[in-house]
Amino acid sequence: MKDFAKQLRFNIFFGLMLGIYASCYHHDPVDTSSIEEKITFLIDDMTLEEKIGQLVQYSGYEQLTGPGQKDSFTQIKHNRLKKGLVGSMLNVVSVEDTREAQTLVVENSRLGIPLLFGYDVIHGYKTMFPVPLAETASWDLEAVEASSRISAIESAAAGLHWTFAPMVDISRDARWGRIMEGCGEDTYLCSVISQARVNGFQGKDLSANNTIAACAKHFAAYGFAEAGRDYNSADISYHTLQNVVLPPFKACVDAGVATVMNSFNEIGGVPATADKHLQKEILKEDWGFEGFVISDWGSIAELINHGVAENKYQASLLAFSAGSDMDMEGYCYENSLDSLLSNNLIKLEQIDESVRRILRVKYALGIMDDPYKYCNEDREKLLTLSNENLGVARDVARKSIVLLKNEKKLLPLATDIRSIALIGPFAKDKDVPLGNWRAQAIANSAVSLYEGIENQISANTKLSYAKGTDHSIGQRAFHAEMTINKTSVDDIDNAVRVAKNSDVVILTLGEDCYQTGEGRSQTELTLSQAQLQLFDAVKKVNDNVIVVLMNGRPLVLTEFENNASTILETWHLGSESGNAIADIIFGKYNPSGKLPVCFPQNEGQLPLYYSQKPTGRGGAKPEVFWSHYTDISNKPLFPFGYGLSYSEFEYSEISLSNPTMNEGESIIAKITVKNTSDIPGDEVIQLYIHDVVGSISRPLKELKSFKKVFFKPQESKDIEFEITEEMLSFYTINNKWETESGNFELFIGTNSEDCKKIEFQFKN
Ligand code: NOJ
Repeated sequence: MKDFAKQLRFNIFFGLMLGIYASCYHHDPVDTSSIEEKITFLIDDMTLEEKIGQLVQYSGYEQLTGPGQKDSFTQIKHNRLKKGLVGSMLNVVSVEDTREAQTLVVENSRLGIPLLFGYDVIHGYKTMFPVPLAETASWDLEAVEASSRISAIESAAAGLHWTFAPMVDISRDARWGRIMEGCGEDTYLCSVISQARVNGFQGKDLSANNTIAACAKHFAAYGFAEAGRDYNSADISYHTLQNVVLPPFKACVDAGVATVMNSFNEIGGVPATADKHLQKEILKEDWGFEGFVISDWGSIAELINHGVAENKYQASLLAFSAGSDMDMEGYCYENSLDSLLSNNLIKLEQIDESVRRILRVKYALGIMDDPYKYCNEDREKLLTLSNENLGVARDVARKSIVLLKNEKKLLPLATDIRSIALIGPFAKDKDVPLGNWRAQAIANSAVSLYEGIENQISANTKLSYAKGTDHSIGQRAFHAEMTINKTSVDDIDNAVRVAKNSDVVILTLGEDCYQTGEGRSQTELTLSQAQLQLFDAVKKVNDNVIVVLMNGRPLVLTEFENNASTILETWHLGSESGNAIADIIFGKYNPSGKLPVCFPQNEGQLPLYYSQKPTGRGGAKPEVFWSHYTDISNKPLFPFGYGLSYSEFEYSEISLSNPTMNEGESIIAKITVKNTSDIPGDEVIQLYIHDVVGSISRPLKELKSFKKVFFKPQESKDIEFEITEEMLSFYTINNKWETESGNFELFIGTNSEDCKKIEFQFKN
């Protein structure tokens, strides 16, 4: 596209004028009935070629987010754009570039139907927020919504209309590199967090010039890739699909998500992209989803690789008949749908229906009336990377940090502590905290931990630094095999020297941000040997070691955890990483994060999750005949929902308003929680339920609600949860959502393992 830029300069002035106008224009909420009429008129006016064109999405020149040539912006794409035979583009960003592409279409094509610009704004556009898994650890719906809101404001100001987020794939296997992009292992937590993200991106009015369309992905079961290997098959039961995988998508549809992306994987032999039951029957018919389904990058063409289609013609037939409306970089629909139609294999009404779904989103965004409404350089400058945005990023980041251990109560540190040794490969790193899927983040722009600490310590505090070991992993961004540095300990003597001479050591350990994300699955989740060596060496000379972990997935910490009194999980926290971590270290903010996923003892336990089903042979027995491993326990190292605070909380027993709940009624569960410390703090109070006997076996515990509550020193509060029928329902043996009579166990606690328990009955 850049190659064609010059010839379009004449359009820029025109576009700029329109863009400024758009930013001042007041948008009333859209009247949907008149939109449907307008779409009908427009469709009547479109040629078949133009209709099929709306179902095509091309990648621009900005960056590749899938396999292809870097210079894949060809003359063919250019010509099709000019003729109005492309509905959408991804990877075209900035006011300047989106305007160029939009002008090409709007000014040259017969009907001038504007392009929809999509981009992977996963955890920020330029202002980076914590990677989604980390942000989920905040269990803070307002914070999550705020970060998506700002991501939308910055993206919309850069000419974008649409983000391919949230990723709502449940993932229980930390080997899968994309676990960093989602909400972790739990269906309920993922549902509410994803809704908050959709609300943040889309706001109340999609036609406003600071909101963008969201996309729930990947439909479905992508996170169940066998053995955690990306793109692998997901062989899961239909009940797991219904009870575990689909609810977060349904939650997004209920929140009004504008689009859904299907997925690369197959389930039981049917690739999701060609799955009619999923896309047509469940999503569109049962759930009443009115937006459109986009394929994943090339996933329609990949039906050939899956071995269910011989060629692109057959692949198009399968995907289109299954309900995939738009073809992302697959080059299938544009060459096949017309002949499929003339061969009577698909109907014109089906094409019209897909076009309608896509136009509906374009109308809702307001670009049909004003294609350049998101194009305004002034807004782009003003709204991107602003101090306000960075302030929110810092707040969300500190809320995402999880305190795993504080045995010696080393934390928080006094800001006038005499001396600190800051050691480790990530201590001065300004890039890794930005995380993978970093959109337009400026390389090396994060606040490093060193800077964050420097910003807060007193003038009298001596801060020494040693890298200890390198963490570089060769070609980071798109290289298939990464050479992870596991051995080099060049700087270890220096690390030991500074550790010896300081009151406390802050030791940063973890993984590079490009060790997680798409195509970055790993079989080993331990720290590198070099990092473990560094820990041992430093620990030998100074007992006051605070380990600060930076990583995008649960790691195996077993090798050193026992020997570490203090561990802070800080993930990849985004632009304000160093400031946010320093806020926790010096007690400016009391940690409140809780793990959204179990940390395993070793990789052999994977997949691992708290909501295990009972087996015929559960519970520890003296002989071997029960479901266990002979080398380690079944338990994770750190369970789901776990996270400490500088405060301490005490939970009373639970009481119920009624031990029996009848159909159509609800009951109240009450617990008293007390902050027994003199430090104010937040606690995430978690409620789990177990349906003791079901028509299909039910998980031993399932999160059904939580409350994040602030406590003053020594304050005690009565916390009430309403238990509704919906919380007890599941996809039963009758293949529908039902609530079955019987006994239930109810747990309330501080994490999935440490809970109080009570029983009740449900009768219908
Ligand atoms: C492939 C990824 O699976 C998907 O999540 C992403 O949105 C697209 N590429 C576009 O970059």
